[in-house]
Amino acid sequence: MLSAIGGTPLVRLRNLEGCAGMALFAKAEHLNAGGSVKSRTALAMIDDARNSGKLRAGDTILEVSSGNEGVALAMLGAVYGHPVIIVMPNDVPWERRVLIERYGGRVILVPAQANVGHTLQQCFSIAEELAAKPRCYYARQFENPSNVRVHEETTGPEVIRQAGGEIAAFVAGVGTGGTLIGVGRALKRRYPRAMVVAVEPATAAVLSGGPVTTHRQFGIGEGFIPALYDRTVVDDVVTVADEDAYRTAGALATEEGLMVGPTSGSNVFAAMEIGRRLGSEGAIVTVLPDSAERYLSLVTDGANVTAS
Ligand SMILES: Cc1ncc(COP(=O)(O)O)c(C=O)c1O
Repeated sequence: MLSAIGGTPLVRLRNLEGCAGMALFAKAEHLNAGGSVKSRTALAMIDDARNSGKLRAGDTILEVSSGNEGVALAMLGAVYGHPVIIVMPNDVPWERRVLIERYGGRVILVPAQANVGHTLQQCFSIAEELAAKPRCYYARQFENPSNVRVHEETTGPEVIRQAGGEIAAFVAGVGTGGTLIGVGRALKRRYPRAMVVAVEPATAAVLSGGPVTTHRQFGIGEGFIPALYDRTVVDDVVTVADEDAYRTAGALATEEGLMVGPTSGSNVFAAMEIGRRLGSEGAIVTVLPDSAERYLSLVTDGANVTAS
């Protein structure tokens, strides 16, 4: 089953309003086993920790996650036989909590505050206390070099091979920064002139120096600049409003048949902005991090996740 992580398709987007004349491609990371791009990083962090002896048989895996990394780690905990504890804000869609528990993991929910960064800091404090206990491996995705490495060694080369020609820009949202920085490094080695563009929510625009409140683009915009974020790789930052992210995610379903989550909307919205700036010069590549099926409770909660 672990062989169903990585090797995802690169899809050309042809029907979205405004993408005519652009060579716009999206890496379908929602198709990984475990349901998101984070399966790649969870597998890399766990395999590296097992190989180096930091994670031994039966040890508990601990992580702070707004959801997808937690789901992926819980899946690997089930495969490899480790207990898993995930510390998570309580305002993320409940599907993520249910999935973690379904894989046998334990979730510790932390009350969301008015500033998303403060919520995460509270999650980190709780995790530090738990990490002091024996037989516990705290994965630390926001600073773990395996997170960037796996994207530099797998996602990046896959994209370069699949695009089949020069790539003008790579555009991706920043949660830990692993996807953007890892793929960005691989891309710049192959195409030194390629632009690497970060995406962040308009109301948690730390990379652009803006104020931080809350937002609904779960998985990006955590309210602080992660240690893995390497400014020397990034050429530009685009901010995206929640409405634009959700409207574009809806259009990806109705126009392209891609049932993907809100940050896929953020990424594609930003990629089209870059496409308009660059004109027809080369391909623009972005990422679809997870599936809309992970957010269906937002529909029943009354939030607008459709194109209308
Ligand atoms: C839905 C979603 N989008 C985007 C990202 C950002 O990925 P990265 O952590 O590689 O920056 C994540 C990360 O958790 C995510 O869950």
